[in-house]
Amino acid sequence: MITLSKRSAVEPFHAMDVLAEANRRRQAGRPVISMAVGQPSHAAPKASLDAAEAALKHGRIGYTDALGLRELREVIATSYRLRHATIIDPARIAVTTGSSAAFNLAFLGLFDVGDAVAIARPGYPAYRNILKALGLTVVEVPVTAETGYTLTPASLERAETRAGRKLKGVLLASPANPTGTVTGREALKRLITYCDSRNITFISDEIYHGLTFVGEETSAVEISDNAVVINSFSKYYCMTGWRIGWMVLPETLIRPIECLAQSMYISAPELSQLAATAAFSAEEELDVYKESYRTNRDFLLSRLPELGLPLVSPMDGAFYAYVDVSRYSNDSMEFAKLMLAEIDVAATPGLDFDPVEGHRAMRFSYAGSESDIAEAVGRIGGWLK
Ligand SMILES: Cc1ncc(COP(=O)(O)O)c(C=O)c1O
Repeated sequence: MITLSKRSAVEPFHAMDVLAEANRRRQAGRPVISMAVGQPSHAAPKASLDAAEAALKHGRIGYTDALGLRELREVIATSYRLRHATIIDPARIAVTTGSSAAFNLAFLGLFDVGDAVAIARPGYPAYRNILKALGLTVVEVPVTAETGYTLTPASLERAETRAGRKLKGVLLASPANPTGTVTGREALKRLITYCDSRNITFISDEIYHGLTFVGEETSAVEISDNAVVINSFSKYYCMTGWRIGWMVLPETLIRPIECLAQSMYISAPELSQLAATAAFSAEEELDVYKESYRTNRDFLLSRLPELGLPLVSPMDGAFYAYVDVSRYSNDSMEFAKLMLAEIDVAATPGLDFDPVEGHRAMRFSYAGSESDIAEAVGRIGGWLK
């Protein structure tokens, strides 16, 4: 008999389970529309596909430096100059196997077993699961209308008091998943200044940058050299399956992350790195996709409340509508299962994002095509009647 580790007892990522069931139904010929997983329906930018094709024709795909190809690190650094008027030394960029690998590396580089790290609730479930699997203490901080659906110095202080321990880290996404909250420049500055003054490391998940519809998009690099910034090519760049992302690191963290990455991943896939390097020239193409998300957003913003599904939080960024389903159900898992079984529409139960209040919330991703979103909403409207 084998015995399992305690750390392996992580919650399932229900969105992935819903996706697996949706795929099974699709294979069985059902007309499934998936609004469950946050992934664009578009292909990677043409320039990226061309770069990958050329690499496949000409070269051997091998390991790269653990921190990534020099050209990619340089174009990433340049993007901070162009978009955020901030000069970043390419040496501070670490290329990673998606932002998911970046979380592992950052948590290992920054925290020891038992250290307390604050995250927003509702929030992206993998944060909680990775932190727990690494033996860290997760401090979930509720974000509500009162806190502008984001973390604030006051809510962190309250969380520290409640937890009875000092925080070592704070992790925040802006735009956020599932709330869509965009944390504005001043609010982000207050938060980072608070963390800096207390030796709490601020980790900024900027994976939804490029997908802000209301408000300003501020990177933590503009505010502090101590913040760890995590980003990815998965969302705005439409490259989920290429598993490629990056970090901007404080100086002292570069070498430890390099050493951890050498042993844990050797390097991010070279093919994906070459494709990602070309993605920065594809803004025109990608902004067209962004406009289609905006159309979906505006449509959902008016239609969902009409169907008795009011928004829990404003949809200012990312591509999610997080709605209150309590008029119909107090069991979001059951709601998701029934909706898929009866009208072939897949969405994610709020329990993924919020173990306390998520039983009465659902998340709908609007990264799909305009026609799919319209069809799905039509089906939901008929079903809820
Ligand atoms: C907030 C957030 N961070 C990180 C990720 C992970 O993305 P990836 O590993 O594809 O970069 C996701 C995926 O949905 C997300 O929503």
